[in-house]
Amino acid sequence: MNNWKIKRAEKGLRGEITVPPDKSISHRSVMFGAIAKGKYRITNFLRGDDCMSTLNAFRALGIDIRIEGDEVIVEGKGLRGLREPQGELYLGNSGTTMRVISGILAGQSFDVTLTGDDSLSGRPMGRIIEPLKLMGAGIESMRGGGQAPLIIKGAGPLRAIDYDLPVASAQVKSCVLSAGLYARGRTSVREPFQSRDHTERILEYLGADILRQGLFTAVTGEKEMTARDILVPGDISSAAFFMVAALIVKGSEIVLRNVGINPTRTGILHVLERMGGDIEIVDRYGDVEPAGDIRVRHSGLKGTVIDEGEIPLLIDEIPVLCVAASMARGETVINGIKELKVKETDRIMTVKAGLSAMGAELLEKDNDTLVISGGKERLDPASVNSFGDHRIAMSMAVASLVSGGESDIEGTACADVSYPGFLEDLNRLLGV
Ligand code: S3P
Repeated sequence: MNNWKIKRAEKGLRGEITVPPDKSISHRSVMFGAIAKGKYRITNFLRGDDCMSTLNAFRALGIDIRIEGDEVIVEGKGLRGLREPQGELYLGNSGTTMRVISGILAGQSFDVTLTGDDSLSGRPMGRIIEPLKLMGAGIESMRGGGQAPLIIKGAGPLRAIDYDLPVASAQVKSCVLSAGLYARGRTSVREPFQSRDHTERILEYLGADILRQGLFTAVTGEKEMTARDILVPGDISSAAFFMVAALIVKGSEIVLRNVGINPTRTGILHVLERMGGDIEIVDRYGDVEPAGDIRVRHSGLKGTVIDEGEIPLLIDEIPVLCVAASMARGETVINGIKELKVKETDRIMTVKAGLSAMGAELLEKDNDTLVISGGKERLDPASVNSFGDHRIAMSMAVASLVSGGESDIEGTACADVSYPGFLEDLNRLLGV
């Protein structure tokens, strides 16, 4: 089904759901386990399109991976266990796969070509090509312009570098640290602001030689890791759609079970609380990656100011946050939005297009700030487009719940990238 018709919610969202597994952690559970030594089990792996691109890439690289129900069993082959794939590796829509796998492939002794869909082929890869070249990797953009397809040529041992990341990007950080696993000596990165740290946590868990001090992370290369079972919590970025839906639809009270609450991902909780949202973590568990159950109740929201340093902690939640801001009293100012323009779509353009069609007021200032004038009682029903971006499709679905009628969202198959079954979960909470 490639379009959703979503009606105004006449009564609140009620009940509980378990959101899908975390996309970022699912990617890393395959990538880093595959280059550790030994057989291991991943529990609660996300079988969305993006993570399947990672899984299939590692199969093509000679890793034995079996899917059994919601478990994935992988035979990790160590740092030198990957083999040359038959053809090019097609990575679909997945930026995380392309950027992080490039770090691993830069350390191999064979050549690989990486391709992706139209969106992925337009995304900036110069940000990984530059540090990988500094490390002595043979990586090129085939068409130039720092975009995919990428060709990575097997090189000798990589050189360790100390790299100051020009942007706070977990994908770039993870790429450099991955290449660092194959470099002689100590490779380090320093980020301008803290971004998600799933790579650091999993590498530490698998026994890599990692040193972490604030925004500085170093890894010492050429050390084998040992595979261990991995448990993936639910994705807070997927939970965010229902947090906002429950906050803005009158009469709502929901519980979201098993949501990952790694502190480098919980920016959305802090911002929604600041806006007056009644959100509570009612139970906590997990260790390597903490998780919890989150209760959310309808609340009158007010606008807030979001600083540049907070952006990496809620980067994927900004589209749905714009929906919340449209319904909040007063103005919401989001500073440091530039990175949003190089996601699966230019998310400033696509969220503005969708929400403006529904009567919301979003204004971009100085190319790096978004101002949302809130205070809407309701939005207007409209026909909007996802532009093929999963998070835009789901954000528009949430906005439709507070519109004056029925909205039509075109191009919704892309929700499967991160949230297969989104509409079913929404309908369950709506009781329809
Ligand atoms: C991700 C990091 C973020 C995020 C993306 C997943 C990751 O990208 O937007 O959806 O898994 O590392 P950047 O680190 O490039 O901002």
